[in-house]
Amino acid sequence: MTTLKASVGSPYARILSIGSALPSRVLDNEYMVQFIDSSDEWIQQRTGIRERRWLAEGETLESLALAAARQAIERAGLQASDVDALLLSTVSHFHQTPALAPKLADELGMVDAAAYDISAACAGFCYALAQAEALVRAGSARHVLVIGAETLSQLTDLHDRGTAFIFADGAGAAIVGPSETNGIGPVVWGSDGSQAGAIWQTADWQSAVADGSWPALGMDGRAVFKWATSFIATATARCLEEAGLTPDDLDVFVPHQANNRITDTLLRYLKLPEKVVVARTIQGLGNNSAASVPIAMDSLLTSGQAKSGQTALLIGFGAGLVYAGQVVTLP
Ligand code: UT7
Repeated sequence: MTTLKASVGSPYARILSIGSALPSRVLDNEYMVQFIDSSDEWIQQRTGIRERRWLAEGETLESLALAAARQAIERAGLQASDVDALLLSTVSHFHQTPALAPKLADELGMVDAAAYDISAACAGFCYALAQAEALVRAGSARHVLVIGAETLSQLTDLHDRGTAFIFADGAGAAIVGPSETNGIGPVVWGSDGSQAGAIWQTADWQSAVADGSWPALGMDGRAVFKWATSFIATATARCLEEAGLTPDDLDVFVPHQANNRITDTLLRYLKLPEKVVVARTIQGLGNNSAASVPIAMDSLLTSGQAKSGQTALLIGFGAGLVYAGQVVTLP
């Protein structure tokens, strides 16, 4: 039998930098309740959302993803040509094929980079981060650009009382590269396809073409809430255990920004100490799915609430149902 040469990677990987980009249109709850039987008070009490960002004229999924990516590349002190793989996590790209990632790689100036899209909804950034870490450690890539970008406003039915006030747009990006110490803990991830019907697209492309209806997101909010506050709580605790840490070792907690009440329940379950800084970007940004975790990390870092070198617990969860989380060292 012929012996094949194996690729040799870095012993460890870490996040070298984070970037983010937000659309410029700010919509408050008063705007949303024009279309649904609801109120600013209800939305704030039940979710924590005060306003959200939606695409303005001239802004696109692509423009947000590129802006976040450029910031991450620059902050890593790299050129685009130093980055050899691009993983884009999104459910908002309206082309079955080709994927958007190769186009982004070309526009960024990456040269002959591996590039592909990942569909893992609100767990998408943490899914892609796990893959990036594995690619760097396996030697399949040296620097990986991970992007979570969504324009869920384009998949929102303004008249759906169960979702209209939740979803939003944005992009976050990270560069993952080699490291002498470990900066990305073991991923805890999985799926439960028996609950595929808990978050759905109202029409697939074929039926949309047949009857002309634009597909929107639908959600059984109560079912997802129940799963997020029970199963996801235990999965989040496992992320800490797998990294060999206890709650006292944590500095920052960055859960997917789905609902402040879900975050509160996770905090109670994990018994995190008071000193832990908790991401609450949902208040001003709504739920921007795969973009929510990197945007929240960037917001905490740029506002000075979190600092480089601190230990952060990430968890993403959503349509599929799918989830992924890991502990990371902040760049
Ligand atoms: O990002 C992917 C993962 N997604 C999530 O994690 C989302 C998880 N789910 C949620 O965040 C929550 O379920 C929602 C925010 C979507 C809904 O909040 P809820 O507290 O679960 O509402 P509910 O469906 O249990 O309804 C409670 C009450 C009902 O009234 P009664 O029967 O108690 O009189 C609803 O009719 O609130 C009413 N309600 C509303 N009231 C005002 C439901 N939707 C609305 C609304 N405005 N938009």
